[in-house]
This record gives sequence, structure tokens and C-alpha cells, in this order.
Amino acid sequence: MPREHLAVPVPRREAQRTLQRARRLGLLDPRRKTVSKGEMVEIPVTSAPPGMVVVLQNAPEFYETIPDLAAFFGEDICAEERNLLPRGWSILGRVIAVKIDPRIHHLKGKIGDALLAIYPRCSSVLLDRGVAGPFREPDRELIAGDPATETVHREDGVAFKLDPMKTMFSPGNMRERMRMGRLGRGETVVDMFAGIGYFTLPMAVHSRPKRIFAIEINPVAFGYLVENVRLNGVDGIVVPIQGDCAVATPKGVADRAVMGYVGTTDRYLDAGIAALRTGGVLHYHQTVPERLYPEKLEEDLTEAAERAGRSVQIERRARVKKYSPGMLHAVIDARVK
Ligand SMILES: C[S@@+](CC[C@H](N)C(=O)[O-])C[C@H]1O[C@@H](n2cnc3c(N)ncnc32)[C@H](O)[C@@H]1O
Repeated sequence: MPREHLAVPVPRREAQRTLQRARRLGLLDPRRKTVSKGEMVEIPVTSAPPGMVVVLQNAPEFYETIPDLAAFFGEDICAEERNLLPRGWSILGRVIAVKIDPRIHHLKGKIGDALLAIYPRCSSVLLDRGVAGPFREPDRELIAGDPATETVHREDGVAFKLDPMKTMFSPGNMRERMRMGRLGRGETVVDMFAGIGYFTLPMAVHSRPKRIFAIEINPVAFGYLVENVRLNGVDGIVVPIQGDCAVATPKGVADRAVMGYVGTTDRYLDAGIAALRTGGVLHYHQTVPERLYPEKLEEDLTEAAERAGRSVQIERRARVKKYSPGMLHAVIDARVK
């Protein structure tokens, strides 16, 4: 058996735990992705972890190795420019989004052309300057290829239609999207900041809750949410609601409420708590200075619960990603009584 295509097949709900165990044992294969097969997930390993069954994957999926952009420029650029060339980018469907150091913005067209040559299946390259404002609109500019940038990005068995010029998609939140895909079976869920369906879609596709009320304020993102619900065949589960979740969140109906927004999420905690039935679970995302994690977020939750005459029990705390120097994006799961 070739060692490089071994995998541990596990039910979806055990995937995260198995992946962490394989990583702790130093047996996770970093070159390959986890592969979903219906209700099962294949965890790529370099050899069998003790006590676990392994199979030979018939369709392994590999991470792209990051090609060296410098090779495309040859002697046309100086050593300083070469050092500033981007070393990473994200691929959303047929669109590449790349951050470029302002000191080499004069090379942006050539960088775009080089990326299109490296990825012949992609058709557009966007210069990425981050996201801004409460609607989380991306600040991007076409630097090469087709100006029509609407595309379908596929991840973990879910299709996300989006236009990366107009709507964000955070590669750093992938683990959290996959985790949401294992929660909510048979439940009534409220997704208060649904966007194009970042958390709603994996949950609806993989866990089949009874109902997900998915609320989104930005009309462009809402349009894609409605389309994505249809595209993934989950219109019998998801109820899209366009509006401000501070007022549009239904009260006292949910077994689970997802607050997938950062920066000012604490202002919406009263609505999140009011959405939950007794014993429901809140997923509270927020940015927090590293030195105040997790205490500050747990305080926010306790205070909001007290305001509503209720109590919280913290069930899980996790770092989602590094947000900016000294700041984390974290998520706390809390049961609200
Ligand atoms: C872009 S998502 C956050 C990222 C997402 N959690 C992920 O996994 O990438 C946040 C969404 O919340 C929406 N939003 C912001 N304020 C809102 C509000 N008061 N009510 C409903 N939606 C809101 C934004 O328009 C945006 O689409």
C-alpha cells in the first residue's frame, strides 16, 4: 500500500476529534485535504494511528503547493521587488484574490498575468485590500483576466455562489464552517449574520436541521443567500430573512443561534439570547485582544444573560484565527438556561 494515500474513515461528527488526534500523534498528512463522502469523512494520515482502521483513498485531494512567482519574472525585477512578491493567495471558484505589498503595486498587472498562467482554470485575478464596513464589503480591483467575476466556490460538499468583487469569503473560517456542518441535526436554528450562507449552507446540507432562519442585512449578500439555498437544494430547510438581526431575529424559537460576525457582535447579544429556548446554544463570535481571551467574551455573555434574567454555561472556547496584530477572532459556545 503506498503510504501517501492512507486515510482514516470516520463519521462526520467524529472528524474534528480524529483530525486533532492524528495531528497530535504527528500522523496527519499535511499535503492532503480531508475528503467528504456522504456521511463519512476521510482523514489523511501518513500511517495508521494506533487502534484506528485505515483505508487506501481512491480519490485523494491535495493542497496546492504554492508556486514560486519569482520564477515568472526572471531578471525583470530587482532583488528588493522579488522579496516583496506575494507568497500566498486565495482561490474562490474561478477567481484568484491576492494581497500585494503597496511597494510593488506597479507590478500588479504582471502578477495577475503570472497567476492566470499558473492556474489555467481560473479566469480573473483581483487585488485584495481587505474588507470594510458593517456589510463586510471587500475592497478589490481587477488586475488581470475577465471582468465578469461571479463564480461558484465549492468546499466540503457545499456550493457557494458569490461575486468576490462584491462579497467576502474568509478562507481562515473554513474549520468553523466545517464544524457548523456537524451541528444542528433536527433543530431549529437562527443564523443572525448569514451572509451568502457561510454557516447556514454547511449546516443545512450536512446536518439537515428542521429549520434555519437565516438573517442578512446586505441586499447583495442576501441575493446570493437566496440563490445558494436553491443551488444546494435546501429550500425546505432555510428561511432567508432580509433585515437587521437586532430587530428581525425571531424570539424564543431556537435550539441554536449562530452569531458569525465580529467587531460589534456584543451589541446583538440581547437578540441572540432572546432567540433561544431554555437550554439552547449560542455561538458567539467576536474579536478580542489576545491578553483578554477568553475572559472578556465570557463576561459579555454572562452580562447579557443576566440582563435577560437568564444564565449561561460556557461549553467551548476556541480561537478561529489571528485577526490583526494582538487581536484574535474567537468563538464561545454557551448554553443559555
Ligand atoms: C460576512 S459575514 C461574516 C463572515 C462569516 N462568518 C464567514 O464565515 O466568513 C457577516 C455578515 O453579516 C451581515 N450583517 C452585518 N450586520 C448585520 C445585521 N445587523 N443584521 C444582519 N446581518 C448583518 C453582513 O452584511 C455580512 O454579510
